[in-house]
Amino acid sequence: MATSADIDALLIIENQSFPSPWPRQHFLSELEKPYSTVLLACSPIDTPQEILGFIIFWQIIDEMHILNLAVDPAHRRRGLGRRLILKAIALAQEHDLKTVWLEVRPSNQAALSLYHALGFQHVATRKRYYDDTGEDALILCLSL
Ligand SMILES: CC(C)(COP(=O)(O)OP(=O)(O)OC[C@H]1O[C@@H](n2cnc3c(N)ncnc32)[C@H](O)[C@@H]1OP(=O)(O)O)[C@@H](O)C(=O)NCCC(=O)NCCS
Repeated sequence: MATSADIDALLIIENQSFPSPWPRQHFLSELEKPYSTVLLACSPIDTPQEILGFIIFWQIIDEMHILNLAVDPAHRRRGLGRRLILKAIALAQEHDLKTVWLEVRPSNQAALSLYHALGFQHVATRKRYYDDTGEDALILCLSL
């Protein structure tokens, strides 16, 4: 689980990962929400451990909402993204949640491949959802 001491590392990954990255305040506010979890993927051997990726999700009533997921570009395609989302899904199952939701850009082939491989289904589209590019958002859902 992340603390405020991790925010600088999260921001570096965030800024390298998204066209409209979250600002520091977004990360700080997630740490304060009782229903929000910020999970980290860390290098196994470095001391102190280097943060290589993160996932942020909400657990509300019987649903999980994944808000953010990113892996350091230098450490992609090594299974970290899959491990992070599988950990979130395992927690959802442990807590008896019924569905996991997320939004993704249609142009994000890497993320779409990952989500489809894990069984997420495209259930709706929000037209011109992303301000920066005017892209739609695909709403994906995994039933547990
Ligand atoms: C999406 C992201 C988190 C994936 O992380 P990752 O650690 O590289 O992913 P993994 O190594 O666990 O890959 C798992 C599977 O996802 C798919 N995948 C990942 N990267 C891919 C790519 N560049 N092209 C196509 N498929 C890809 C593959 O199916 C892969 O399985 P495989 O390696 O056995 O073929 C990462 O690319 C990232 O941080 N992107 C920028 C931020 C982002 O788009 N986040 C998601 C927002 S919705």
